[in-house]
Amino acid sequence: MDKTLLVMLLLSGIYVHSTSFPNVYYFIKKNLTWDEADKYCIKEHTALAQIQNMENATAMMNIQTAGFTDKAWIGLSNTPVWTWVDGEPATYLKWEIDQPDNIDTDEYCVKINGAGRWGLANCSLKKPFVCQDEVDLDKLYESTRDMTWNDAKTSCKESGRFLVTIPDPQVNSKVKLNAQKTEIWIGLSKPKLWYWSEPGENHFTNWKEGQPDNSNGEESCAAVALKDGTWTDEPCNAIYPFFCYGDVTWCKEPCVKWNKSGNRVLKARKTVVRVRITSSANMKYPTCSADLQRQLEAALATKGVTDFQLTWKKRPVKRT
Ligand SMILES: *[C@@H]1O[C@H](CO)[C@@H](O)[C@H](O)[C@H]1NC(C)=O
Ligand SMILES: *[C@@H]1O[C@H](CO)[C@@H](O)[C@H](O)[C@H]1NC(C)=O
Ligand SMILES: *[C@@H]1O[C@H](CO)[C@@H](O)[C@H](O)[C@H]1NC(C)=O
Repeated sequence: MDKTLLVMLLLSGIYVHSTSFPNVYYFIKKNLTWDEADKYCIKEHTALAQIQNMENATAMMNIQTAGFTDKAWIGLSNTPVWTWVDGEPATYLKWEIDQPDNIDTDEYCVKINGAGRWGLANCSLKKPFVCQDEVDLDKLYESTRDMTWNDAKTSCKESGRFLVTIPDPQVNSKVKLNAQKTEIWIGLSKPKLWYWSEPGENHFTNWKEGQPDNSNGEESCAAVALKDGTWTDEPCNAIYPFFCYGDVTWCKEPCVKWNKSGNRVLKARKTVVRVRITSSANMKYPTCSADLQRQLEAALATKGVTDFQLTWKKRPVKRT
């Protein structure tokens, strides 16, 4: 038997007094659709992973994803909504019965007929249109030439106006008078823009080359490839594991408080973390236990906890 006393430690309760709660990513080993993953992250953490820069992307890729090698959802999606050319989402809609009848609205633009009803038409068709004063929505300017939808939009813009927007039935009645002879373009479209699920400025992208390609016409959610960190667009009902982000796991709701002005204030909390560590250190010597403490602190720091005190209980372990 070696002279050094072999001590096996099973640490069953480490008390972590944490006062710092950094942002961290979590890999969730559950196969869910994008919407389900979104709900899960909001409930259990903060939200699906938001990636603002290359450091974020690298931090996320350093997380163990054992058992999963394909793709994982991140908090980026495009959920196209009917939007007017002035950027306002449409609240008033006056579709012809059976319209809009096409899912792939990218290739279709909106026209109005003499009855004041709207429908989709091929954007490259040339039609008359009306431009509208930016302030006085009742002020309409009839086009002199028929144009494609995009050209019509540009033409109005060049004269400091908008391709007509229709916020209510009054403006709709006015515009339909211009469509008595033939259908005309209105400034409504469903642009495919990618949004992060959390508000705020974030223009960072890390698409794989050739992506997003909307290859089957319904790819509106983004996933990260676990092997290289690049993003692809995927059908939102596909099933993948996912990344959430949020505060460290052992410091959820009870230790986060909101003050009167709605800001998060952090409150220290005593938490038991279960870790199993075996060490062949002679615990009789203070230097050894100090060394073990340093190792534990380093291990916890990699999990994002840096401001804490440790205490532990020593329990004997059966020899194998
Ligand atoms: C992402 O980067 C920002 C800016 O550097 C940083 O504040 C944030 O904590 C990072 N988020 C995560 C989850 O690492
Ligand atoms: C998730 O789906 C993948 C691919 O279909 C499958 O190999 C894996 O076993 C599933 N994992 C879980 C935890 O359901
Ligand atoms: C729209 O019209 C153009 C020109 O005629 C044609 O090439 C294109 O395929 C049409 N698009 C759709 C979606 O029908």
